[in-house]
Amino acid sequence: MKFPETIDTEALLEDVLSEPGTGLVEMMKRLDGDIMILGIGGKMGITLGRQAANAIKAAGVCKRVIGVSRFSDAAGKNKLEQWGIETISCDLLDQAAVKALPEVKNVIFMAGRKFGTEGSAELTWAMNTIVPGYVGDHFRQSRIVVFSTGCVYPLVSAGTCGCTEQVPPAPVGEYSQSSLGRERVFGHCAKAYGTATLLLRLNYAIDLRYGVLHDIGQQVWNGQPVNNNVGHFNVLWQGDANCYALRTLELCASPAAVLNITGPEIVPVEYIAEAFGRLMNKTISYTGISADKCYLNNAGKAFRLLGYPQVPLEQMIIWQAQWLMLGGSSLGKPTHFEVNNGKF
Ligand SMILES: NC(=O)c1ccc[n+]([C@@H]2O[C@H](COP(=O)([O-])OP(=O)(O)OC[C@H]3O[C@@H](n4cnc5c(N)ncnc54)[C@H](OP(=O)(O)O)[C@@H]3O)[C@@H](O)[C@H]2O)c1
Repeated sequence: MKFPETIDTEALLEDVLSEPGTGLVEMMKRLDGDIMILGIGGKMGITLGRQAANAIKAAGVCKRVIGVSRFSDAAGKNKLEQWGIETISCDLLDQAAVKALPEVKNVIFMAGRKFGTEGSAELTWAMNTIVPGYVGDHFRQSRIVVFSTGCVYPLVSAGTCGCTEQVPPAPVGEYSQSSLGRERVFGHCAKAYGTATLLLRLNYAIDLRYGVLHDIGQQVWNGQPVNNNVGHFNVLWQGDANCYALRTLELCASPAAVLNITGPEIVPVEYIAEAFGRLMNKTISYTGISADKCYLNNAGKAFRLLGYPQVPLEQMIIWQAQWLMLGGSSLGKPTHFEVNNGKF
């Protein structure tokens, strides 16, 4: 796809995020069976589902995409149905409802809980460990890609180049611990039932309505001090994240495979803030003390297996600055990327 110079409407943003990435159309020609996306109703799932549907159409194959969620946001459900994605309303905490879901060859598991963990950790543990047990049991004959997070790794300094898959998990705080719990439950199912599984450790998707660039850019645009508590991070265009997630259906294995996905750069907060300052003609000030230890993910293995992302960081910075200056919408869901004590 030739990317637009400016993304100035939600419709165009969703088109770009849903454009099949490199290799996806060819994969759809090879992949057997239908695709079910569990937890499709969130920030990423809507365009992941649509990217899958677009790739299937471009491949000229016949394959159902089925989106499962509670659909707290009815607008998301309507959009999916308009784009040809079947929907099933289901609370995955209800085991009988999970057992009633149709069995499919391919499952992408996106449901989870992060924010609100402080003060209500029980629900986070239930969502992130009990639901995987229900899903892993019911879909034992499927291949399953499980969205996880780079937060299962220890916090490290930028000089390490980020954590590769070889770094043993050392999660800080209950969200990260329960995320490792999710991996362990799916890992158990992969071993016990032979289910082909892949654990996808993602660090920070960028969709102009939310994300680390949105959060920093909003502070710059509003003339607020930029929070520099966590000095470095890595990010990945959400369209690229969606494409990697779908393509990893072909990399599922038993015992479960593990793959990091993020962008190739370790990005200093100050670099991004200053870039926004130049584009927005704003002066930058900072708050917080830049800590040496950050959540940093090294996705070298994914680049070797699947290639580099299509949207470079510098393009994301420009699109994000334009979006904010044009008054583009915000989901009002801060990433809290500045948190480095595991309390979400
Ligand atoms: N976005 C990122 O940058 C990022 C980074 C690292 C990891 N991840 C992980 O990747 C996954 C997808 O990310 P996301 O940003 O799209 O997450 P999200 O916005 O939290 O979406 C997950 C969706 O799962 C659905 N869900 C939650 N509880 C459910 C339940 N009991 N039954 C059925 N559905 C339920 C919810 O939609 P309904 O209200 O419709 O049920 C929710 O919106 C998540 O697990 C997230 O933690 C994301």
